[in-house]
Amino acid sequence: EEGGNYYLVDEEMVAAALPERLPTQHKGDFGHVLVIGGTRGYTGAAALASNAALRSGAGLVTAVVPEDLYPVAAAKLTEVMTFPAPGKDGGFDAGACAALMGLFGRATVLAVGPGLGQGEGTVSFLRELLERTDLPAVLDADALNILARDRRILTDPLFAERRKRWILTPHPGEMARLCGTGVGEIQSDRIGVAVRASREWGTTVVLKGARTVIAAPGSPVFINPTGNPGLASGGTGDVLAGLVAGLLAQGIAPVEAAFSGAFIHGLAADRIARQKGMAGLVAGDLLEEIPVVLELLA
Ligand code: APR
Ligand code: MG
Repeated sequence: EEGGNYYLVDEEMVAAALPERLPTQHKGDFGHVLVIGGTRGYTGAAALASNAALRSGAGLVTAVVPEDLYPVAAAKLTEVMTFPAPGKDGGFDAGACAALMGLFGRATVLAVGPGLGQGEGTVSFLRELLERTDLPAVLDADALNILARDRRILTDPLFAERRKRWILTPHPGEMARLCGTGVGEIQSDRIGVAVRASREWGTTVVLKGARTVIAAPGSPVFINPTGNPGLASGGTGDVLAGLVAGLLAQGIAPVEAAFSGAFIHGLAADRIARQKGMAGLVAGDLLEEIPVVLELLA
C-alpha cells in the first residue's frame, strides 16, 4: 500500500460492516461505551462523543467525568449515564482509576480523550487506565497528546496485545506530535505516515482531515471520500470518536469500525451541507443525522 495503493471507502463496504438489529435484541446486545474525558471549558467534548456513541447504535453509554464537573455533565446528558470519578474541574486525580474498575467490568469499549485535559493527575490516570484495562479503546484528542509526551506506551512490547484493540484518531497536529515531527511532514505523505505509524505501534490509525486515511497492521489502507469543510468547526472530531467507539461496541472489527465511522460522519456532514450549507454546520448537527445515514446504508 505504501506509495499510493489504497481502497476508497464506499457505501457497500460500510453496509457490509454494519451490525444487524434483530427483532428480539436488547440493549445489552449492543455494547456499553465509556467515554472518559471532560475538564473545565471542555465538558461539551465529552457530551458530543457520548451522544455520538448512542446515535451510532450503542446500547448503553456512560460519560466518566471528574466529579467536580459531574453536575454540568449530568445536566447536558439525558440518555447518556454519567459517572463521577475522583478529580477536580481541571482533570482526573492520579489515582482515579481504582474507582473505575467496577465500571470497566461492565463496559465493552472505551473512548478516551475528548476534553480530557493534560493535567499532571490526568497523565498518571491515563497511564494506569491503559495498564489496567484491556478493553478496546478509541484514543483521541488529549489522550493522544499525553501519549505523545510518553511514546513508550506506543512502542513498549508490554502493551502490544492491547494496542491491537486501540484506534487512534489524530488530526494532523496530533499526528505530528505523536510522530515527533511537523504538520508539513504529515500532510505531505498522509498515506505513508499513517501506514508506518500503524505498523510501528501495532494499532489502527485514523489520520483525520480532508480524505481521512485509515491504516491498520495487516490491512489494506482505506481513504474516506465523504465530508466537507463544514466539518472544520470545534467538536466534530469528538463526534467521530464517539461514533467509532459506538460501532466498535457493537462488535465490528477495529479497522471496519474506523472506516465506517469516518464514512458515516462525512456523509452526515454532506447531507446537512446540501440542506443548510457548510458554514455554520456545528458538531451537534451531525448527531441527529447519524441514524438517518445508518438507515440509508442498511
Ligand atoms: N473535509 C473533510 N473532513 C474534514 C474537513 C474537511 N475539509 N475538515 C475537518 N474534517 C473532519 C476531520 O476529518 C475530523 O473527522 O472533521 C473532524 C475534525 O476533528 P478534529 O480536528 O479532531 O477537531 P475537533 O475535535 O472538533 O477539535 C476540537 O479537539 O482534538 C482536539 O486539538 C483539537 O482542540 C481541538 C479540539
Ligand atoms: Mg479533536
